[in-house]
Order: sequence, then C-alpha cells, then structure tokens
Amino acid sequence: MKKFKKSLAIVLFLAIVLSLGACQTTKADNSREEKELVTGIFVEESKGKGGLLKLEVAFENSEIKDIKVLEHNESEYTKPVIEDLTKKIINTNSIDVDIVSGATLTSHAIINAVRDVIKKAEVTLIAKEVAQETEKPADVSTDIVIIGAGGAGLTAAIEATYEGAEVIVVEKNAFMGGNTNYATGGMNAAGTKYQKAKGIEDSPELHFKDTMKGGHDKNDPALLKVFTEKAAETLYWLEELGAQLSEIGRSGGQSVDRIHKGPDGMPIGPHLMDVFAKQVEKLNIDVRLNTKAIEILSENNKVLGIKVENLDGHTYNINAKAVIIASGGFGANPELVTKYKPELEGFGTTNQPGATGDIFSMLEKLDIALIDMDQIQTHPTVVPRINEMITEGVRGDGAILVNRDGKRFVNELETRDTVSKAILSQEGKSAFLIFDQQVVDQASAIKKYKDAGLLTEANSLKELGEKLNINATELESTVESYNEYFKDQNDKEFGRRLLNVELIEAPYYGVEVSPAIHHTMGGIKINTNAEVINNSGDVVEGLYAAGEVTGGIHGGNRIGGNAITDITVFGKIAGRNAAEAIKYK
Ligand code: FAD
Ligand code: SIN
Repeated sequence: MKKFKKSLAIVLFLAIVLSLGACQTTKADNSREEKELVTGIFVEESKGKGGLLKLEVAFENSEIKDIKVLEHNESEYTKPVIEDLTKKIINTNSIDVDIVSGATLTSHAIINAVRDVIKKAEVTLIAKEVAQETEKPADVSTDIVIIGAGGAGLTAAIEATYEGAEVIVVEKNAFMGGNTNYATGGMNAAGTKYQKAKGIEDSPELHFKDTMKGGHDKNDPALLKVFTEKAAETLYWLEELGAQLSEIGRSGGQSVDRIHKGPDGMPIGPHLMDVFAKQVEKLNIDVRLNTKAIEILSENNKVLGIKVENLDGHTYNINAKAVIIASGGFGANPELVTKYKPELEGFGTTNQPGATGDIFSMLEKLDIALIDMDQIQTHPTVVPRINEMITEGVRGDGAILVNRDGKRFVNELETRDTVSKAILSQEGKSAFLIFDQQVVDQASAIKKYKDAGLLTEANSLKELGEKLNINATELESTVESYNEYFKDQNDKEFGRRLLNVELIEAPYYGVEVSPAIHHTMGGIKINTNAEVINNSGDVVEGLYAAGEVTGGIHGGNRIGGNAITDITVFGKIAGRNAAEAIKYK
C-alpha cells in the first residue's frame, strides 16, 4: 500500500510538471481504478465581451482544484465576478452555476472555457453539495446609508467618510459600478486648466447656456447653475483621488471642446470606478454587494434607515441618521420606460440590467416629488441587437454617418435627440458610422471596439461599402466631398463645425448603428443641497439623492459628458451635507 501511494505520488508529480511545461493533457493511469481520474493543468480560450479570455484549470483526481484566468480583456468591474464565478465552480466542482447579471458575456466566457477544458481533459466531474442554510443577519446602525454603489453613491460615500461620518453602501449587483462602469466618452467641465492650456475659451456660463439649449430650456436653472459652477473643482477633486482627466474632446451640442477624458482617450467609467474602488478600500468603507434596498424606513417626514434583502433572501434593517438615494436610472426597465414614453416600446437599451428604477415604488409613503419622468433619451449610435454603444467620441474624433445610399444625412455633432431622429428616418431605421485609421488611433476606447470585433474593416472605401452592403460608389463620393469640406473647414451640406480629420488613411472602418434607450433624465426632485423634496414642497428630513435617479438637471435632453459631472458634483454635495447634518444629531 505504501509502495502504491509512493508510485502514485510520483506519477501525479510528473503529471503536474509535464502539464505545467506544455499546458497539455495529463492522465494518471497507473491502476485500473484511477484510469478515469484526471490530474493536471489544462489551458483553454474563449470569447468574452472584450475579446479573448484565456484560463487554466487544475484537476486533481478529476476534481477542480484551481482556476486561473491568465489573460482577458474584460472591463475592470468584472474582477469580482470572475473571482466569484471561478470560486463557485471550484467549490461545487461543476459548471452548473448562475450567470451573473450585468456580466453575462464574461460569465459565459468563463463557463465556456471551463466546459471546453473538461471536454479536452475527458474529465467526468461529480458535483459537490454545498450547504445552503444561512443565518438572518442582525439589524445594524450607522450614520449614513447609501443606496447604490455607482458613481454618485461612491462619490457621496467617500466625501461623507472624509467628513467623519460612518457609512454603509448597499449595492444589489454582485459588483460595484452600475451604469458608471459603462461610461465611455468623458466628463464635461468648463474653464479648466486643461482647456486654458489648449487655448479653449470656455466658462460655466457658456456650459450653462449649451446645456439649457440642449435640454430645450426644461432644465432646473438653480441646479444647473451649481452643476456648471462646480464642474471644474469636482474634476480636480477626482484627480486628487487619483483620476487623470487631462485630454479634451467634443460631444454633441457643445460650442467648444469640453469633454474631459483620461490619457489615450480611455473610457472614463472604468477609470473612475478603479479610482473609487481604491478609495473604498483605503477608507475601509462598508460596501455590501448583493444587497438590495427594499424599503425606506420613515416616521412622519423623517427617514430612519432602510430595509434590505441579501442574496439568500434574508431581510434586515440598516438604521441610519441619513439616507442617500443613488440608485441610478430606469433605462433597463421597459415597463417603466413605456409607461412614461410609450413610443420607446421595443427599443434596446445601453444600460446595465440593474437600471430598473425599483426605488420609485418605495417613494410613495414619503410622498416624494418626481420630475420630468417622461424625458427619456436615446443614444443615436448603438449596435443593433447586441446593444453595444459606440461612443459619441468616435464622431467627435472624426467619424461621419451615412445611410444605405452611402450619403450623409445630418450634422453628426448635433444633440442626441436630433441625430437619433435623423437615423430613425433613414431606410432600415439605422445608419453607418464611417471612419479611418486616424480616428481609431485617437482613443483606446475606439480600439476596444475593434478588439471586440464590432467593426467592419476594409482597405478601401469601395470595399468597405460592399462589405457593409451599402452603396459603395456613393460612399466614395460622400467621403471625397467631406474631405473637401475638411480642407475648406466648411461643411456646406450640414454645417458641422468640428471638421478635424480628413478621412484618407486606410484601413477604413464601418459599423451599423441605431438609437437605443440611454438616459432617464427625470427622477426624484432635489434642491441645490441634494435634499429630497416632497409633493408639498418640503424637504424630507435626512433624505438626500444624487445621480441619474434625480431629475431636473438635464431637462428634455442630456448633453454627452454631463452625467458624470452630475453624479460627481451632486454625489459630493449629498455626501457632505448628509455628514454635516448628522453632526448635530
Ligand atoms: P449607476 O452608476 O447606475 O449606479 C446605481 C447603482 O445603484 C447601480 O449599481 C445599481 O445596481 C444600484 N441599485 C439600483 N437599485 C438598487 C437597490 N434597490 N438597492 C441597492 N442597489 C441598487 N455619462 C457621461 O457623462 N459620460 C459618458 O461618457 C457616459 N457614457 C455612458 C455610456 C453608457 C453605455 C451608459 C449606459 C451611460 C453613459 N453615461 C455617460 C451616463 C452615466 O454613465 C450614468 O448616467 C451615470 O453613470 C449614472 O451614475 P449613478 O451613480 O447615478 O448610477
Ligand atoms: C458616449 O460616450 O457617447 C456616451 C456619453 C454620455 O452618455 O454622456
């Protein structure tokens, strides 16, 4: 028996060494009984949201002992999803695990790669039972409880913690970030040192004017004034926390270059979330994932905390002196969207699946005032069916829009509502973004689309037109005319003011796009202190709100880059004011 154990150990050792070196299949087959048991390390690849995902699985006697993701191009926010999912597969010795909502493609990539490994290794897994019984958590008390760990919630949490308050943040998803994870184009701020260094003349007054015009004069002027005046200082505050926002571009409806981005034009959302996550860790902020707020506890016109439900279905109370609602919009709730804007029935959405606005059903008891609920925006350039948004930055960096006839039909840098409407009136209710290698080279956010396989690529415009199944001859002549406008700096057809690239550098790229639900401008009514207002016009004691869950700032149409400003400016105001107010309680 001793001899058998020793020889088995040698075989296992050799199996691991061999497989580590060559990443190849290894089987321990020194006895009839162990013949089917597999030990070794196997590598497999699959396709995630961002492209290739490569992982290795270590088996010991046909049991999964470890999974390491070796390479991937997934967004930063999927980190806890990858960790959780691989842990679950290991613990249950099975790939029969739940897909994580909001990270579906990443979940599938992991499960598919492990499935392929199992096939390759010819392993028969025996699933392990995992104890399901969990205890109901006890009620807890804190100074401030924040609903939602997106950009607004975490800004508020960080500011309130710096102000000395004890904070708990609850997040219903398995990860932090919400729609903030998806933000790509950037953050607007006027009169910044970065604009000045580039000779761009801008001011909070001009930002106010552009936003009011873009919002069809429906914006709340008092909120908008605070928003535009505090944008630049909030951008510097984010930089103090570790963000880098020194690059500048143009989004639709702006009179000057005002949208600030990170180095190499990287997507802003994942960058900010990375910065926020580091602060959460540094400040030891209690963020409870998989924890959904289900009720706001109150007495008369005063909040007392919230009731939450965890992943196991247990409920408990978080008693608090102040509550900050930062639960985002409702762009992923088709029932709510069509209740307020029936013409959006059947539209896709760019939003994360958790953007369902469940908070709105919790507000009745406090008779909270809602504003502009029917103001719901579509983003004009979203890839049909898969709902991948192509950032406005692609147009800001030089792309044009053509229809199936290969012709331009709109000033590409008009506001979203105008461009969306123009696209919907084209044949097939879609259009094509056309650009060249110079545009791709301007921003890593655009390169990501290429890596994710979203772009059609060709060596000539004719070939591109043919591949996209649009009129290729017209496309050639459209680009020729556009290049003439570039040389004259005068778009004779549509009056586009920013003509920054002559589209001449192959390869050329194209992608079909169509409008999808993007931003819910309406929501909870707040004052300039981020205090929540009820239908009698009074402040609800101890209740604050910030971010996309609020209404009034963007009026009838949001300008690209203004939401990140909104969530950080008002997230900070909410955090500070809540912390200040409880000092005297
Ligand atoms: P979110 O970031 O959505 O966070 C809210 C959080 O609350 C979510 O995590 C949600 O799961 C959680 N939550 C909801 N209900 C509950 C509950 N009951 N209990 C617990 N948790 C709950 N804006 C810009 O200015 N610039 C851009 O470049 C930009 N790009 C965008 C790209 C895309 C694809 C999308 C969809 C939006 C973009 N926006 C952009 C808009 C911007 O990202 C959002 O408006 C903003 O991030 C919203 O932040 P928030 O903190 O208010 O909400
Ligand atoms: C985009 O990058 O086009 C989205 C920007 C925004 O929603 O503000």
